[in-house]
Amino acid sequence: MMFDLLIRGASLPDGRRNQDIAVRDGRIIAVAPAITGEALEVIEACGNLLSPPFVDPHFHMDATLSLGLPRMNLSGTLLEGIALWGELRPTLTPEAVVERALRYCDLAVSKGLLAVRSHVDVSDPKLVTVEALLEVRARVAPYLDLQLVAFPQDGFYRGPDAEGALLRALDMGVDVVGGIPHFERTMDAGRASVEALCRIAADRGLRVDMHCDETDDPMSRHVETLAAQTVRFGLQGRVAGSHLTSMHSMDNYYVSKLLPLMAEAEMAAIPNPLINMMLQGRHDTYPKRRGLTRIPEMLAAGIPVALGQDCVLDPWYSMGSGDLLDVAHMAVHATQMGSVADKAKLFDAVTTVPAQVMGLDGYGLAPGCHADMVLLQARDPAEAIRLRPVRLKVIRRGKVIAETAPERSRLALEGRPDIVTPADYAPDALS
Ligand code: FE2
Repeated sequence: MMFDLLIRGASLPDGRRNQDIAVRDGRIIAVAPAITGEALEVIEACGNLLSPPFVDPHFHMDATLSLGLPRMNLSGTLLEGIALWGELRPTLTPEAVVERALRYCDLAVSKGLLAVRSHVDVSDPKLVTVEALLEVRARVAPYLDLQLVAFPQDGFYRGPDAEGALLRALDMGVDVVGGIPHFERTMDAGRASVEALCRIAADRGLRVDMHCDETDDPMSRHVETLAAQTVRFGLQGRVAGSHLTSMHSMDNYYVSKLLPLMAEAEMAAIPNPLINMMLQGRHDTYPKRRGLTRIPEMLAAGIPVALGQDCVLDPWYSMGSGDLLDVAHMAVHATQMGSVADKAKLFDAVTTVPAQVMGLDGYGLAPGCHADMVLLQARDPAEAIRLRPVRLKVIRRGKVIAETAPERSRLALEGRPDIVTPADYAPDALS
């Protein structure tokens, strides 16, 4: 049989070794050891890890790469970041937003990140950011799946006519309903916003992804409302709560009630470890809270956890590289999930789980899936998170769209090997 592409000798995230993957017409058609047949292109994986692409379920593509415009965030808080974005927003042109977003997508592709859910601010009634990101979504579609969330950054009730702007954005083709209940003026306004936004999603048959309880306040409990409204409107399986940092500070007894409510509502959680570690606990002296939500406990309760990046070089975060393995790496530390099995779960949290949360079609390595893959210079998910290694090949619909030379260092030390690679240091037993 003739294939368009044959990848030979790969390790897969589920632990299978020495697998061949055959591709035709942009789809995976077989996964098995020692596939025979001709192929237009052959990639020797040499035991390296072949994964479905990374998926970022929480990002702000309208703000990315704007660091320093018009000034830096001096306090480092979420609230100064929002104020700073409010200064920048009136100066934005669609051309500048498109140009930065396309540059970011290039970076994402080089890191094997081929699907992004981006919130898009709908607070400006001119909807410049919406117009720009809709154009970006269309332009990147051949190589990156971009899903957009209508995000009322200034508050659904706090901003002027935010409801009208949000509805117009959805009419224009934005995919998902967003919200920011902890930024409304009162707890009650926040509760009302969750209800109103879930109703809009139910009426339109859309998914929901709200920034929810992104605060250190243990009494910020919009996640409870979001779970209840999810059930009320029959939105089970279509709702995600992003950040949920207040859960870090909540009373343990209350959390023991809350987690089953979230599981019952089939809600997903989208923590953002890099940004949560950077922004939360800013009013603490010592000890300083980490602010990251309760990931191991959520996983134990059966709540899907997908990890997002949130920001790269913008008013909220002066770091970031488009690498979802940075996100997983931070999560290992901040959650103390250090075992091999834990790291495998966190690898899923930047690949298969966000794909499921976003409802991506044809995602995965099974026959019939889109031939979208990334070959990493690592043997397994635990090693991939530890090393955040080179993306040797990034493949979209069966075509290599990015490649990076393997990392090899040449040593000039007598009696030592001439060449070392990062994986040389890892005993097999640790992987
Ligand atoms: Fe966000």
